[in-house]
Amino acid sequence: MEINEIGVIGAGQMGNGIAHVLALAGYEVILNDIRQEALDGALASIRKNMDRQVSRGKIDAQTMDAALGRIRTSLKLRDVGPTDLVIEAATERETVKHAIFEDLLPFLKPHTILTSNTSSISITRLASRTDRPERFMGFHFMNPVPVMQLVELIRGIATDEPTFASCKSVVDRLGKTAATAEDFPAFIVNRILMPMINEAVYTLYEGVGSVRSIDESMKLGANHPMGPLELADFIGLDTCLAIMNVLHDGLADTKYRPCPLLTKYVEAGWLGRKTQRGFYDYRGDVPVPTR
Ligand code: CAA
Repeated sequence: MEINEIGVIGAGQMGNGIAHVLALAGYEVILNDIRQEALDGALASIRKNMDRQVSRGKIDAQTMDAALGRIRTSLKLRDVGPTDLVIEAATERETVKHAIFEDLLPFLKPHTILTSNTSSISITRLASRTDRPERFMGFHFMNPVPVMQLVELIRGIATDEPTFASCKSVVDRLGKTAATAEDFPAFIVNRILMPMINEAVYTLYEGVGSVRSIDESMKLGANHPMGPLELADFIGLDTCLAIMNVLHDGLADTKYRPCPLLTKYVEAGWLGRKTQRGFYDYRGDVPVPTR
């Protein structure tokens, strides 16, 4: 099936990145959120990130203007319904995602493919609450979306082949690479990445290293572009904790228990970059470790 118009639900850091790359690839995009400020913020971020691509010679100004012209915003889920493909990128909480799909169903065209950008929640379970489990998939982008090459494609137990082929063709048109993952907790990237981040938090919790020494060790000793604590702040500590809980609950293995220090940061509302405080404090000119 040919995909022309794509609805993106949730205008946070993932949703705005997804809208950005889809519009640049020539898709008509409807970006939806329940808050006008989120939509305004998303458009500002997209403009800033595209400006950066223009100044680095990755795209020209005309391409940027045309892409921005392909993004419409809406506060109403009904506007997302008549698209060919929906990518849900709302908060990483299963109840929120179920509610969104339930509210969206009455407005969908029969052929609309539903997908979720969930980083860990069961695709089969999300699909089972809709009227089209065979036309439902996981479509998981990495952050920052305009830079990261990978998209994980996850089939639920009922996903049919035309749905998979349509989603794969979108990934190809974005110039990104699709990795196929089976529908088990946290799929591939987060099944491996999150226990590493959680272990870095344990390393801090047990006093083996400081924030700075842990991050420096992994940057200089393992050639990671960001240290694990810096990366956790970048992803969002609430998202990291949510994924560890999905692994712990879904695989019932104590090796996935979230570090109590990670829980404490989330309880404090220190969620990383988005709240300006996490393992680093971002309120000044340079990030300062908080421990
Ligand atoms: N939009 C567009 N371009 C962007 C961008 C954005 N949001 N952020 C960075 N860039 C571009 C820059 O313009 C720059 O482009 P050039 O190479 O053409 O110069 C390039 O990316 C590198 O950026 P910077 O020079 O500013 O910074 P950097 O070299 O420190 O790289 C980084 C930044 C790409 C984020 C790098 O630190 C990195 O790769 N970090 C690891 C990211 C990662 O692991 N992401 C996965 C997280 S896990 C996930 O997303 C899954 C999940 O479900 C939680």
